[in-house]
Amino acid sequence: MGVFCYEGVLLRVISIYLTKKIMKGYPPEYWDAFYETGRLGWDIGYVSTPLKEYFDQLTDKSIKILVPGAGNGWEVEYLYGEGFENVFILDFSPKAVERFKKRFSSFPQDNILEEDFFDHNEKYDLIVEQTFFSSLPRNLRPLYVDKMHRLLKPEGKLVGLLFNHEFSFDEPPFGGTPEEYRRLFEPLFKFKYFDVAYNSIKPRMSRELFVLMLKK
Ligand SMILES: C[S@@+](CC[C@H](N)C(=O)[O-])C[C@H]1O[C@@H](n2cnc3c(N)ncnc32)[C@H](O)[C@@H]1O
Repeated sequence: MGVFCYEGVLLRVISIYLTKKIMKGYPPEYWDAFYETGRLGWDIGYVSTPLKEYFDQLTDKSIKILVPGAGNGWEVEYLYGEGFENVFILDFSPKAVERFKKRFSSFPQDNILEEDFFDHNEKYDLIVEQTFFSSLPRNLRPLYVDKMHRLLKPEGKLVGLLFNHEFSFDEPPFGGTPEEYRRLFEPLFKFKYFDVAYNSIKPRMSRELFVLMLKK
């Protein structure tokens, strides 16, 4: 009986651990390896033009902004430099966070969130998407949409760039299609803008959608 209970508990612990792993996607160590070796194919090294141009026309600099899965945090650096002091960087990779802190030592420590996006609980006026969605396994997409919705204040906005095609890789980035985005986001978000970005950087021209969604 004792052995039976012990085995039962052990199996349960293992199954919770595996479920968490599968549901949370690639773990921080997976991403750490890229930041350690500098193999950052997704990282353009500066704020992307469509996002920069969107940020540049915002007038209220007091809004609370989250950039999840921010990696090196180029958008965060840009926003903060432009006077958006209420901007938060979130990434669960210790190596990514370390790189950001090293590069941008004057950025407020309290605005650096080294945690899992799915465990984060706060409210924001604006959340920025930049190659985070496509880094998550496909089975997490509905959870991502739900989490974004929960993290936004009433009338909060989700803005960003999403690939306009699926990739056939068996590792990130996975991409996505306009049809799928509509199916996933439309129940919880009102689409204000959803079109191929006209001002993408050259290598991503015609390959990404600029999206601006309002929380329903
Ligand atoms: C493809 S990279 C994109 C980084 C950055 N947005 C960019 O465009 O350069 C994906 C990032 O998301 C982070 N990430 C993946 N899953 C996460 C999660 N569940 N919580 C927080 N960060 C996560 C990874 O550590 C990685 O830095």
